Amino acid sequence: SPALPCDIVLFGGLGDLAQRKLIPALFQLDQFGLLHSSARILVMARKTMTTEAYKAHTLKRWQGMATSLTDEQRNDHDALEVFFSKVQYSSLDFQTPAGYEAIVDWLQARPASTNGEVGDKPVPQVYYLATPPSVYGDICCQLDRAGCISERSRIVVEKPIGHDLESSCEINEQLATFFDERQIFRIDHYLGKETVQNLIALRFANNLFASQWNHEQISHVEITVAEKVGIEGRWGYFDKAGQLKDMVQNHLLQVLCLIAMDPPAELSADCIRDEKLKVLKALRPITPNQIGTHIVTGQYTAGTVDGAHVPGYLEEDDANTHSNTETFIALKVEIDNWRWAGVPFYMRTGKRMPLKSSEIVIHFKPAPHYIFDPDQKHMLGNKLIIRLQPDEGISLRMLTKDQGLDKGMRLHEGVLELTFSEVFQSQRTQSAYERLLWEIIKGEQYLFVRRDEVANAWRWVDSLVETLAHANVKPKRYSAGSWGPVASIAMIAMDGLTWYEDA
Ligand code: BG6
Repeated sequence: SPALPCDIVLFGGLGDLAQRKLIPALFQLDQFGLLHSSARILVMARKTMTTEAYKAHTLKRWQGMATSLTDEQRNDHDALEVFFSKVQYSSLDFQTPAGYEAIVDWLQARPASTNGEVGDKPVPQVYYLATPPSVYGDICCQLDRAGCISERSRIVVEKPIGHDLESSCEINEQLATFFDERQIFRIDHYLGKETVQNLIALRFANNLFASQWNHEQISHVEITVAEKVGIEGRWGYFDKAGQLKDMVQNHLLQVLCLIAMDPPAELSADCIRDEKLKVLKALRPITPNQIGTHIVTGQYTAGTVDGAHVPGYLEEDDANTHSNTETFIALKVEIDNWRWAGVPFYMRTGKRMPLKSSEIVIHFKPAPHYIFDPDQKHMLGNKLIIRLQPDEGISLRMLTKDQGLDKGMRLHEGVLELTFSEVFQSQRTQSAYERLLWEIIKGEQYLFVRRDEVANAWRWVDSLVETLAHANVKPKRYSAGSWGPVASIAMIAMDGLTWYEDA
C-alpha cells in the first residue's frame, strides 16, 4: 500500500487555515488510504480543550464553512472516527517552554514496533506552522531547546514569508538556524493545484509545444487570476499587504516561472527550482516612467457580484477610510533572456471581479504571409488557453475553413478542448493542500519554494513597491463586479491588444 507513516505536529490548529484547509486535507488523505494506520497528528493551539472537544469543534465549523470536503465525505462517520483516532489535541503557549514537553512526550510515545513498519527509514516528524510568521522564530527556538529537531524533522511554513526582501531574509535565516534547506517546505498553495503542475507535463512532454515556446513563435502571454471574493474579514492583514504582495509575489510569479522556465534536466526539486530561479532573476524592473504602461493598480468600490450588492473596499468591516492599498493590479512584465526577448507577459489579478477564474493564454504569432480575406486578418494567431481553475483544462483555438459553398475560403475559429473532469471522469481532483501534504510526508520538495526563489521574488516586488511609492501612485477605482479599472484595458490597448475573455 502507498500509505505512509508520519508524525505531524500542527501549530495553530484552531486557525482558519487549519480548520478550513489542513484538517480536511489530512482527513481526505486518510480516507483515501494514504495515511498509514500508525500516522499521528498532534494539533496545538493556545486554548485549553480536550481532543474530543477539538473534534466536535472542528466538525461544527465544517458545517458553516467552504472546505474541499463533499457532503458525503463530511458525513462519513466511520471514516471520521478512524481519522480522529489519529488526532490528539494539546494546548500550547508558543512562547513558553512548558507545552513543548508535551511534544517530546508525544513523539516518544510512538510505539517502537510501528517504526519498523517503514523498513529502515525513520518516521518523518513534520512541524506545520499554521501560525503568523511572527512566532516562527519562537517556535523553532523552543522546539530546538526541547530537543525535538533531528534529521527526521521537517518544517512547513506558509506565506507571507515576510513583507519585503529584508523581513523575508530574517525569517529564512531563523529557519536556517535550526533546519537544513532540504528540511524546509515553504508552501505556495498554487503549486499544489493540479493544472499548475500540469504545466510541466504540457510543456515538456509535448514537443509540439516545447519547440514553439519562445519569442520566435509566441507574441505575448496573459495570466489572469480573478477572484470574486473581497477581503473576507481579513482587512487588517490585507491592507498591509495589498494584491501585489498577497498574490503576485507568490502565486502569479510561481505560475509565470512555470510558463517561462527552461526545460529542467530532470524532474528533481533542485533542477526545477534552479530553472524557476533563473526566470525570477531575469525579470526586468518596472521604472517610474512606466506607470500606466507597465503597471496599473486599482481598488474596488461598491458594486454587484453575482447579482448581489457588495460594499466597497473602504466600507468593509474594520476598514479605515483612507487606505490606498490596491485590490487589483495589472502588470506588463518583461523577461530579459534569450528565450523571451520582446515577449510581454501581461498579468492581472484582483478581488471582486465578475468571476473566479485563473487562466493563462499563450498567443502564438500569426503566419508570416496572409492569403485569406483581408477583413479576417485579426483572427490570425493560435491561442493556447490553460485553465487553472475552475473547470480545469486546456483549449487550443485554431482556424479552419468555414463550411458552405457560399463561404468560399472564409475562416472559422474552432476549439480543440481537453477538459480534465471529462478525461478523468472517475477520478476526483485532489485539493492543493492534500497534494502538498502528501509531498511533505513523502519528503519531496519540488512543489515547494526554495529560499533563493523567495528572495528574488521579493527583490523584484520591492522594486515595484518603490516605483509606486516614488511616484505616489494611488489606485484607480473600479466597481466590484467589473474587470478592474479602465486603465488596465488602456494599458494593454497601448500595445494594440485586448485582454482575452472567453466569449
Ligand atoms: C491566498 C491569498 O494566498 O490565495 C488570498 O492570501 C486569496 O487573498 C487566495 O484569496 C486565492 O487562492 P485560491 O486557491 O482560492 O485561488
